[in-house]
Amino acid sequence: MENTALCYRKFGEPESVLRRETAIKASLKPGDIRVQMLMAPVNASDLIPITGAYRHRITLPAVAGYEGVGRVIAAPDSAAALIGTRVLPLCGEGTWQQYVDCPATLAIPVPDTIPDSLAARAFINPLAAWLMLSLYPPQGKRVLLTAAGSDCAILLGQWALRQGATEVYGIHRSAVHADRLRAMGILPVAQQDIDSVRALAAASDIVYDATGGELALAILGAMDKSAAFVCYGLLSGQPFALQRHFPAVHWFHIRNYLDALTPEAWQAAFCDIWSWLAASHYSDTTLLPFTDWQSALAHYRQAGRTHKPLLEIG
Ligand SMILES: NC(=O)c1ccc[n+]([C@@H]2O[C@H](COP(=O)([O-])OP(=O)(O)OC[C@H]3O[C@@H](n4cnc5c(N)ncnc54)[C@H](OP(=O)(O)O)[C@@H]3O)[C@@H](O)[C@H]2O)c1
Repeated sequence: MENTALCYRKFGEPESVLRRETAIKASLKPGDIRVQMLMAPVNASDLIPITGAYRHRITLPAVAGYEGVGRVIAAPDSAAALIGTRVLPLCGEGTWQQYVDCPATLAIPVPDTIPDSLAARAFINPLAAWLMLSLYPPQGKRVLLTAAGSDCAILLGQWALRQGATEVYGIHRSAVHADRLRAMGILPVAQQDIDSVRALAAASDIVYDATGGELALAILGAMDKSAAFVCYGLLSGQPFALQRHFPAVHWFHIRNYLDALTPEAWQAAFCDIWSWLAASHYSDTTLLPFTDWQSALAHYRQAGRTHKPLLEIG
C-alpha cells in the first residue's frame, strides 16, 4: 500500500524542511490498527517540534502532526469491531499522512454526533486544558489567561467557569478576539493595555500562560506571592527568568502525563472531553487540501486568525 506523508529529515522552519514523500507503508504491527486519515489540524504543537525545540525526543526522519481523525481500515481480531469506525489514532505515528498506525487500545472512538472538523481537534488542546484544570483546579478562583484567542485558552477559560472559577479574564493580542471571548463568558483585556494587565494579574489567583517573554514577566511581577502561574507555551519565542518574589511557577507539558494514563484512564478522559467539547465554543475551521499544505501553514501564520486550518487528507 502506498502512503503519502509530510516528512522532515532535518529540523528547521516547517515551510523549509517539510516535504511530501510517497513510500510503501510497512506492514501492521501486532496490536495496532491502521487508520485512513480524514482531517488533521495545524497547531502550534505540530509546528514547534519540527523546528527542533524537542530534538532530544525526536528521531529523524519523522512524519509531522500530532492529532487528527480517520477511519479504521485494518485491525487485529481483538479490535475487529473498530473496522469502519472513526477514531483518533493517538500515540502512534505522525498524523500528517494518509495512513496512520497506532495501538488499538489507545485509539479513541469518535461519537457519531461529533463532526470530523471537531474530532480532528479533540486531542492536543482539549486534553491539555482538561489535564491542567485537574492538576491546577480553578474552583473558587479568579483566573487569568494569556493568548486568550487560542484554541487551548478558550477551552481553559470556558471549562474553568464550568468548574467554578469566579471570574475568567483573557488577555488577547488581536482586537478581533474580544467579542468572541465575551460570548464565551471570558472577559477580554487587550495585551497592549499593560496597566489593566498588571491590575488584573495582581487580583488573580491563577494564571495559565502560553506566551512567556515580556508579558509573562509583567504578569509575574504584579501577581501576589500566594497565587500560581502555570506556563504551558512560549508563543513569544522568549523564555523568561524566575525571580525570588514571583509566585509559584508550574511548567506544564502534556507529554509528561500521557505515559501515566492507563488505556482505561485515557478512554475515560475522552468521555469528559466529548461532552465538554460538544457544549463549548471552539474556533471555526478552514479546510485545505493535503496537497496544499503550504497554504495551510501560511493560513496558520496569519495574526488575528479566528479559524484553525485543517488539512483534508481523505
Ligand atoms: N504544554 C502543552 O502540553 C500544550 C498543549 C497544547 C497547546 N499548548 C500551547 O498552547 C498554545 C496555543 O496553541 P493553540 O493551538 O491553542 O493556538 P492557536 O489556536 O493556533 O492560536 C494561537 C493564538 O496565539 C496568539 N499568539 C501568537 N503569538 C503570540 C504572542 N507572541 N503573544 C500573544 N499572543 C500570541 C495568537 O494571537 P493573534 O490572534 O493575535 O494572532 C492566537 O490567538 C501554544 O503555545 C501551544 O504550544 C501547549
